[in-house]
Amino acid sequence: MTHSEENFQEKLIEFEARIARGEKIEPGDWMPERYRKQLIRMISQHAHSEIVGMLPEGAWIPHAPNLRRKMVLLAKVQDEGGHGQYLYHAAETLGATREEMTEALLDGRAKYASVFNYPTLTWADNAAIGWLVDGAAIMNQTMLAQCSYGPYSRAMVRICAEEGFHKKQGQEMVIQYAQGTLKQQAMMQDAINRWWWPTLMMFGPHDSESKNTPELQRWGIKTKTNDELRQEFIDEMVPALHALNLTIPDPELHYDEASGHWISGEIDWDEFWRVVKGAGPLNKERLAARRKAHEDGRWVREAAAAYAANMTNS
Ligand code: 3HC
Repeated sequence: MTHSEENFQEKLIEFEARIARGEKIEPGDWMPERYRKQLIRMISQHAHSEIVGMLPEGAWIPHAPNLRRKMVLLAKVQDEGGHGQYLYHAAETLGATREEMTEALLDGRAKYASVFNYPTLTWADNAAIGWLVDGAAIMNQTMLAQCSYGPYSRAMVRICAEEGFHKKQGQEMVIQYAQGTLKQQAMMQDAINRWWWPTLMMFGPHDSESKNTPELQRWGIKTKTNDELRQEFIDEMVPALHALNLTIPDPELHYDEASGHWISGEIDWDEFWRVVKGAGPLNKERLAARRKAHEDGRWVREAAAAYAANMTNS
């Protein structure tokens, strides 16, 4: 083993001992390149998910059924934009630049949560997104708040606090519509039918297919696996939706007395990968909207850069 390899091994042992002691790794600390790269991948795609995630609900802001619903949805969508900024900044502490991350999203190299490529067909979709999608995101993000990388875990604490409001406003609407007129009940059930499986897909492939999980768990970035979090979500949501006389669009779903878990049918992984790889219902529209927003904002970026250069030279 060369001297530098020996040196790397010593640093790696100390790095992993720090994580085992529950210490947070901070931007200036030594870290393996793979740790840095994994975090940039995960955090930047998380940020992209927040920004693209503004589009499905954003489309309904002008059509909210009343002023209160409009104000709540406006606040939620605005929060998501802010979450994207926190997360892009957390990725920048690892050396990624905003330009690189934005370019990777806009040219299709980077991923974002596949759930946001589905259409919001009725107002009740905003209720389903709030309770199901944001509820799933909170489950995942509460885990990430324990993450070994300081800036990411701290961003998660702030984001989870705001996601709590997102989930509650969705839950309030689901309860209202599930107990409303027959038309509202039918609209709510239709939304649950369309958002249930895309929400389960948010937790990622099965652990056996999750190529990133072993490394992420080794270094304390993930403290629970994709399937563990998905099972927690199913166990929480099935009884809650059944209590509202809403059905789950899964004929295989059943309760297993021995384990105390609700056992889900199999996710359509062909659909999952089709949507992840860009062939979902609205992938093209979502990226086109982000490309247009980026183009429309070009003059602002150029003006800010010119102002900053002028300030530096004066
Ligand atoms: N949509 C799109 N791509 C997905 C995906 C999904 N639902 N699930 C997994 N993938 C991708 C992964 O990114 C990975 O591809 P890559 O290596 O090119 O990045 C590949 O599929 C294999 O998946 P792995 O399980 O190996 O990947 P991870 O271990 O990274 O697990 C993850 C995937 C659970 C999404 C994990 O990255 C994670 O926890 N990310 C942080 C949280 C996040 O991004 N959440 C997205 C939703 S944010 C949100 O909902 C906003 C809220 O306000 C509504």
